[in-house]
Amino acid sequence: MKKLKLAFIGCGSRVKIYSQLAAASQEKFELVAAADLRPERVEFIKNLSTLENFKSYESGDQLLSDLPEADIIVIGTQDQSHFEPCVKALNAGYHVMVEKPLSTDLSEIRQIEALANKLKKRVMVCHVLRYTPFYKEVKRMIASGLLGEIVNVRAVEGINPWHFSHSYVRGHWADTSKSSPMIVAKCCHDLDILRWLIGKSCKKVSSYGELSYFTESKKHEHLPERCNHDCPEAKSCFYNAAKYTSKDFRKTWLSQIYDSYDIADDQEVLEWLESSDWGRCVYKCDNNAVDHQVVNLDFGDCTASFTVTAFEHGRHLELFGTKAVLKGGDFYRRHLGADIIVEDHHGNVTEKVFFELSDEAYHHMGGDEGLVEALYEQMVDWPLSQSLESLSEVVEGHALAFAAEESRLEQMN
Ligand SMILES: NC(=O)c1ccc[n+]([C@@H]2O[C@H](COP(=O)([O-])OP(=O)(O)OC[C@H]3O[C@@H](n4cnc5c(N)ncnc54)[C@H](O)[C@@H]3O)[C@@H](O)[C@H]2O)c1
Repeated sequence: MKKLKLAFIGCGSRVKIYSQLAAASQEKFELVAAADLRPERVEFIKNLSTLENFKSYESGDQLLSDLPEADIIVIGTQDQSHFEPCVKALNAGYHVMVEKPLSTDLSEIRQIEALANKLKKRVMVCHVLRYTPFYKEVKRMIASGLLGEIVNVRAVEGINPWHFSHSYVRGHWADTSKSSPMIVAKCCHDLDILRWLIGKSCKKVSSYGELSYFTESKKHEHLPERCNHDCPEAKSCFYNAAKYTSKDFRKTWLSQIYDSYDIADDQEVLEWLESSDWGRCVYKCDNNAVDHQVVNLDFGDCTASFTVTAFEHGRHLELFGTKAVLKGGDFYRRHLGADIIVEDHHGNVTEKVFFELSDEAYHHMGGDEGLVEALYEQMVDWPLSQSLESLSEVVEGHALAFAAEESRLEQMN
């Protein structure tokens, strides 16, 4: 079995997951090199690798000057630092797997697409949802004709209030000028999925949305800047940063931002929160990412509406077809014991599907594992395994997100 050699640039929380999954498939992958500004993150990947001549670098630039022997460069730097390493890696002859969004600028995304086409290299975007059992099964059901023609789609992404505060109020994607608009940063996944499921190009987009809740107002005037500055509402506040020290929050949330999340004692974490962005009051941050947005999409003979909100948990999907209706997603899984339910127009339930997934794998609905499997399948005998078609679809999905943001801003004026 041919092994694919992986080199990583930007070894933060996403790449940590992908590198662990790749290291667990030693028959398929070799971890040959890693670059990060933080040496301990490179060390983490080095420890996963079985190679004695593993190469460590202090930056993506350094790695891309040295050009280690690898098949694929995995890029997991922050949103605004995808374009440059991606272009350099393609020009150096590597295939690339890059985190979403491909870039924060649509014209750069189109440049990457053109370059990949010209050089006949594969660029895979980490659209993990495409690789989840849930969306793969929905796609299969649509293709089987079970639902007939899809006439309407309704999709919701509930980011989850704590997740929203962690990422879009206190965290990396709070200030859109330093990252990308929320609809691009978070929902290029969802718009990609809609385009993929419907299987047609979108003709028109309109959108509304704003930042309504996570802002300073009169009712927050009495609150301190930081949760641990004797906040009078610390006990009852859902967003109290001290929660980062709890067992569950350490694993799910602290691990994304604090490398010694599993060994540091509570005092150490609380001291770190004292100067960290994640210790700030959620009503007193420098955030401008919207906390709710709706997007209407016209796909020709099919219309779709998409809602993203901080105040819901998980993704749900409803497809209205000429033969049947499909409903599914997190809410159905949690409360109705089925990931997908299909009802025909006589009112009969014709399909009920539940996926056995561990809690661990259920993060990203099993998509992280699926993505790493697909990375092998799609790259191992490239270009036979996959046409460039899917990159152009991914670019369309990104373009929808940028169009939605443009429309939202127009409606605000
Ligand atoms: N696919 C998904 O579902 C998903 C989920 C969350 C985040 N993301 C995306 O993944 C990307 C990374 O997110 P994250 O949460 O892992 O971020 P992170 O901040 O944890 O990791 C980024 C890493 O890049 C490193 N870095 C910065 N500049 C560098 C340089 N010049 N050379 C080498 N390394 C450098 C940083 O030190 C850091 O370790 C973002 O673009 C984000 O939008 C995708």
